[in-house]
Amino acid sequence: MTGGAARGLLAELREKAAARLDPVHLDFYEGGAGTERALAENERAFARLALLPRVLRAAGPPRTAVDLPGAPGTQPVVVAPTAFHRLAHRDGELATARAAAAAGTVLTASMAATTTVGEMAAAARAVDPAAAVWFQLYLQPEREVTLALVRRAEEAGCSALVVTADSPVFGRRTRDDRNRFHDLPPGYAAENMRGLPGAPPGGTRDIAMSPALGWADLRRLQAATRLPVLLKGVLHPADARRAVEEGVAGIVVSNHGGRQLDAAPAAAEALPRVADAVAGHVPVLLDGGVRSGSDAVTALALGATAVGVGRPVLWGLAAEGEDGVARVLAHLLEDTAHVLALCGAGGPRDLGRDQVVRRGPAG
Ligand code: FNR
Repeated sequence: MTGGAARGLLAELREKAAARLDPVHLDFYEGGAGTERALAENERAFARLALLPRVLRAAGPPRTAVDLPGAPGTQPVVVAPTAFHRLAHRDGELATARAAAAAGTVLTASMAATTTVGEMAAAARAVDPAAAVWFQLYLQPEREVTLALVRRAEEAGCSALVVTADSPVFGRRTRDDRNRFHDLPPGYAAENMRGLPGAPPGGTRDIAMSPALGWADLRRLQAATRLPVLLKGVLHPADARRAVEEGVAGIVVSNHGGRQLDAAPAAAEALPRVADAVAGHVPVLLDGGVRSGSDAVTALALGATAVGVGRPVLWGLAAEGEDGVARVLAHLLEDTAHVLALCGAGGPRDLGRDQVVRRGPAG
C-alpha cells in the first residue's frame, strides 16, 4: 500500500463524512481558531519537509512497536483525544475504542467524550484485554473536580493521564461562533463530567482549564495519582524542560489541531526544539496534521516516539463507524511501516534527524 493510496483513503473517508454529518457538527470537527492559520500550517509544515532515504542498511522488515507510558510495545500512531464522538456516529466513542484496541494502539479518551471513560475502556478491553487507554483531562479550577476525574480514570483502568495545558481559556472557534454551536443537542452530554460540580456537561465551550492554574497544580495532580502523567500542548522548549524536571512521563507537542492559539507554529515546526530540550528523558509525541505514513515517519525522525491523529479518526467514524476508524488506523500504521522500510529503517529508532530536509522553494 503506497502513501498515495493511504492519503486517498483518508480523503475518501473525509468526503463521505462531510456528506453524512450535520454541517454544524462537521464545522465543529474540521474547524480551528481565528483565521485557521495554525490549523492549515500543521499539514503545510509536513508538506515542506522531505525524507532522505538511506540505502543498503540491511535493516530487515520494519518493526514498528514503541514503548509509551502505560503502553509498552504499542504502535507509533495513537488516537489523540477528541470530543463528542456520538455527534459523528451513533456508536460514538465505543466504536473508536474498539477500533483502537483492534489496531493494537493507544486510545486517548477525551474528558469531553459523550461516553464515560469506564465504558470506553471496557469496550477496548473486550477486544483486547491488554488494550491501553489513556485519559485526557484539563486541570479544573476546583481541585476536587480534577481529583474526581482522576479517580474515574483510575477506576476505568486507564494506564496514563494526559493533561492538556494549552487551554487556559477556550480558543475562539470561528465556525462554531458563526453557527452558534455552543451547546450539545438534547440527549448528548460530556458524560465524564456528569455529577461533578463545575463545568455543566451540556456546553461545548465550558470544558477548559483556568488561566489561574500553574505548575503547582500539575504537581498536586501528580502527587494524587500513581498513574504516569503526560503533558499535552507544549510548544516552547523551556516548558518541555520544566515538565521533565516536574517528573512528567511524556510530552505531547501540539497546537491542539489549530483550535487554540491561531498564531502558534505548526506542531512539526516546534518538534525539533522540544525534542532537543527533552533530550530523550521521556517520550515526546506529536499531533497535528499527520495524514500519512510519511508525515508520521518525518515526526519520528525529528524526535517523536509516536504521533497522534485527531480528525482522521473522526472522518473514519463519521463515514463508517468502527470499520471506518479501523481502516484509518490500519492504513496509517501500514503506511508508517512501509515508509520506514523505504527509508532504510528497521524501526523508528533507526531514523536520524539528518534524514529530514526542507524542500526547495516552489518553482
Ligand atoms: C480536539 N482536540 C482535543 N484535545 C484535547 O486535549 N481534548 C479534547 O477534548 C480535544 N477535542 C478535540 C475535538 C476536535 C473535534 C478536534 C479536531 C480536536 C485536539 C486533538 O487532541 C489533537 O491535538 C488534534 O486533533 C491533532 O490534530 P489533527 O490530527 O486533527 O490534525
